[in-house]
Amino acid sequence: MNVDGIVRDETNVAGKAEEKEYSYEEEEEERMVEELGMYRGKVRLVNTEDPAEETMLLWGIQQPTFSKPNAFARQTSLQLPIDACGRSLSILQSPSNLGTPGVTGSVMWDSGVVLGKFLEHAVEAGRIHLQGKKVVELGSGCGLVGCIAALLGAQVILTDLPDRLRLLKKNVEANLYGDVRGSATVTELTWGDELDHGIKDPLPDYVLGSDVIYSEGAVMDLLATLLDLSGTQTTVILAGELRNDAILEYFLQAAAEDFTIGRVDQSQWHPDCCSPRVVIYVLVKT
Ligand SMILES: C[S@@+](CC[C@H](N)C(=O)[O-])C[C@H]1O[C@@H](n2cnc3c(N)ncnc32)[C@H](O)[C@@H]1O
Repeated sequence: MNVDGIVRDETNVAGKAEEKEYSYEEEEEERMVEELGMYRGKVRLVNTEDPAEETMLLWGIQQPTFSKPNAFARQTSLQLPIDACGRSLSILQSPSNLGTPGVTGSVMWDSGVVLGKFLEHAVEAGRIHLQGKKVVELGSGCGLVGCIAALLGAQVILTDLPDRLRLLKKNVEANLYGDVRGSATVTELTWGDELDHGIKDPLPDYVLGSDVIYSEGAVMDLLATLLDLSGTQTTVILAGELRNDAILEYFLQAAAEDFTIGRVDQSQWHPDCCSPRVVIYVLVKT
């Protein structure tokens, strides 16, 4: 894009340079696609040649720093009540562990609540089908997203670091009782490590993650695992909290080498669970 906001696409036809001019609206229209992977809803394709454009747009339009964190999460309480899939879920938390260096999954984060409710809404709207699908969740933390996916019919493997699994298992047991359409198991998975056969054989239909892009040092390991888990039929859905534009840009730049990335418009989120501090991406291996 030049300084006038005009994109010049110089295509060499019969030795001559032709110039097409796109208005901002036309370029935006070209970026919108009706589906990506198994997500049957509109997404805006991220300009992978210029990931800085994406972070500038997000911070410019959504202005995440002007709204308060923890719109949905309550990180000081021992239980977080959430209504989803016709049930009253109660997510157990361990707020005292949050102070331990490197421990982040002992409480729920806003993007987890947003992603869980997004899945519920997307299934109801027919944009995602989870019944009988294999789902792997990365960095599950307290496990709300994986529990909701299981209630929506998926065969879910919830994963996290080895020493983070106790609370996760407790939450699965406490919330997935009685008549559950799908199933859930909990297992360790450290990003970048070799994957167990049960996790990658067969490759999952969906890989989910909320608030997993927050440490620059973990980005390449996270991407290695996303790549290991992605086949031609795999759709990755990540929700993130807009705290640090540099880390998000680093992730998008590196992810663009192997994935097509689309941002889901907030009009497709659960109407009760929208936040200018959160973003949802769909990624499919290119
Ligand atoms: C900010 S918490 C988000 C937890 C949960 N997804 C949510 O939205 O509430 C990040 C999660 O990623 C996990 N995690 C961080 N680094 C990891 C790694 N290298 N391998 C596997 N999991 C990791 C943490 O243990 C934690 O559960």
